[in-house]
Amino acid sequence: VTEEVTVEVRLGDRAYPVLVGSGVRARLAALLDPAARRVAVVTQAGIGFDVDPGREHKVFTIGHGEATKSLGTVEDLCRAWSRWGLTRADQVVAVGGGVVTDTAGFAAAVYHRGLGVVHVPTTLLGMVDAAIGGKTAVNLPEGKNLVGAFWQPTAVLCDTDALATLPERERRSGLGEMAKYHFLTGEDLASQPLVPRIAACVRIKADVVAADERENVTTDVAGRAILNYGHTLAHALETAGRYDLRHGEAVAIGLVYAAELAADLGRIDSARVGEHRRVVGEYELPSALPPDVDPAELVTLMSRDKKALNGLTFVLDGPDGIEVVTGVDPAAARRVLDRIGRAP
Ligand SMILES: NC(=O)c1ccc[n+]([C@@H]2O[C@H](COP(=O)([O-])OP(=O)(O)OC[C@H]3O[C@@H](n4cnc5c(N)ncnc54)[C@H](O)[C@@H]3O)[C@@H](O)[C@H]2O)c1
Ligand SMILES: [Zn+2]
Repeated sequence: VTEEVTVEVRLGDRAYPVLVGSGVRARLAALLDPAARRVAVVTQAGIGFDVDPGREHKVFTIGHGEATKSLGTVEDLCRAWSRWGLTRADQVVAVGGGVVTDTAGFAAAVYHRGLGVVHVPTTLLGMVDAAIGGKTAVNLPEGKNLVGAFWQPTAVLCDTDALATLPERERRSGLGEMAKYHFLTGEDLASQPLVPRIAACVRIKADVVAADERENVTTDVAGRAILNYGHTLAHALETAGRYDLRHGEAVAIGLVYAAELAADLGRIDSARVGEHRRVVGEYELPSALPPDVDPAELVTLMSRDKKALNGLTFVLDGPDGIEVVTGVDPAAARRVLDRIGRAP
């Protein structure tokens, strides 16, 4: 281990460490419950990041993509664990991106009414977002993440060695989420090396989660909702479903849009908008909409966002920092969509 940072997620008796660094996977055996005799390792083909739980273990491989995040996969995992003899004293280790940690995390939450799980995120997005905070879920044909549980892991190991094999597009997707964190903190994250930069993102998410574990959003207390900065438009683009965008790419466009919208509403000045464009640009992420978008459709989709409380709801920058803003005029939302530009 060259450089290692530990971030504590402060959740009382469910507090847990997030270790960030090259080689931190070596800490796995020591972080598992000493009483666990067996460990079910859940991963995907092609990740190839081996972990050693230091006791009897077996690898369970799930499929790829959103279709894998299903109740069917949860049933398959639980049945395979049961046939293998995994007991409620044993543990689960999820090695992969958000698809693996969300699915294995939810299966761990319900198998024998809850088994300890350690997450070993292998994507940048997993390290700074999906594996932190205890939200687990699978999809239904009716919508994403509709069935899930809050189930905190007992530890998270962000081993940056895993990133060596991560495809470029996936890395950029993680950078989109990282760009979001720039605006949730005063720190200049971009100038930091990877390990402290990931750790800084983890710290922000961990602190927000510790303050608002179950997303008890009100209009006065932004709480966990601020983690959705840039996400209102991103979710609309994803829901429209026609665009070739990874999540972090959609978030990058959503960040620029949120900045332009905040400026349109007189909440921030053009220099601050420029800062959003600079960070997104430095990460070589898109800032313009796909060429063939239907702005009216996007406004409709944004008004149906599940975070919407009262009319069009956005997380916007402003004089008091980033906060939830309700009742945004649809005409403004539309006007700014027309203004942010289209990719060629
Ligand atoms: N629970 C949460 O709080 C939360 C937060 C954000 C996102 N998510 C969920 O996370 C999912 C997206 O996660 P993601 O972006 O990590 O995508 P992903 O899990 O689909 O991983 C992307 C691809 O990269 C591959 N891969 C992963 N690590 C690799 C490695 N080290 N080397 C080579 N290939 C590797 C995977 O097999 C997969 O094909 C979504 O389902 C989203 O809903 C959850
Ligand atoms: Zn996101």
